[in-house]
Amino acid sequence: MSEQAPEGVDLEHPNAARIYDYLLGGTANWAIDRSFGDLIVKHVPLARTIARVNREFLGRSVRYCVRNGVSQFLDLGSGVPTVGNVHEAADELDESSRCVYVDREPVAVAHSELLLEEHGDPARHAVVRADFRDVPAVWRQAAETGVLDTERPIGLILCAALHFLGPAEPVEQIMAAYRERLPSGSYLIITHGTKEELRLPPEQIEKISAVFELYEQSDNPVYSRSRAEITKFFGDFALVEPGVVWLPEWRPGDGPAQATAKFTENPSLSTGFCGVARKA
Ligand SMILES: C[S@@+](CC[C@H](N)C(=O)[O-])C[C@H]1O[C@@H](n2cnc3c(N)ncnc32)[C@H](O)[C@@H]1O
Repeated sequence: MSEQAPEGVDLEHPNAARIYDYLLGGTANWAIDRSFGDLIVKHVPLARTIARVNREFLGRSVRYCVRNGVSQFLDLGSGVPTVGNVHEAADELDESSRCVYVDREPVAVAHSELLLEEHGDPARHAVVRADFRDVPAVWRQAAETGVLDTERPIGLILCAALHFLGPAEPVEQIMAAYRERLPSGSYLIITHGTKEELRLPPEQIEKISAVFELYEQSDNPVYSRSRAEITKFFGDFALVEPGVVWLPEWRPGDGPAQATAKFTENPSLSTGFCGVARKA
């Protein structure tokens, strides 16, 4: 049976948002995304758990910000909504929290709109279709929603998103532009895939490298960066303890941890670094 897709959805290539949704067990994906996802799982059987460990960190970092007085969020490359979305995690602790989701993939935006129509509050939640590389446009569109007060601290999230920007992209400048716009007291939350520092046998490292190569066939190639390169994205913001670490290592113990628990022995299996930092 051929699958229908809304206008603007590219079914010629697997797409990062839809592959990730498939790995997380969602329904916003098509056959081309699923066969790509299955190929990833064949190379790295833990791929689904890796996607979940990223989501568990996202929840912990959002709760950390809310507990520390920041309860409005700008989530860039937010993806298709799934379990533990940013506005839900924030609302659990602060019913007046605010969140603007940003993604360039039409499926991610359409599903976010549907979710917010049903379960959101238009005064406090919004979704914007934009390319996060265009910092002035993202900032303007996010402000125009009226959801965020751009004069007050914001939690800016780039989870599993920056690794879609290759070495030819001006990533450092993009990050500097966001850091400059954020008001004092804001937090920057980042997760990023890596094939560095892996404490694994060479044949397993090869399989992980093969996944990075596979992504070159998708709409969104993925690039590995080192811990030092990822740390640079935080600029002069003060890193919250324990700094830039493997996903399961960042303040585990607050919230759901089914996936996180699977990496206790070898956190490097998560193949992702993460960190949270505060602007003075
Ligand atoms: C792997 S998903 C991560 C979703 C979510 N942030 C999370 O960590 O669970 C990456 C998302 O980033 C989006 N994305 C990648 N590059 C982007 C760009 N330049 N502008 C906006 N969105 C982008 C993709 O469409 C996809 O939805």
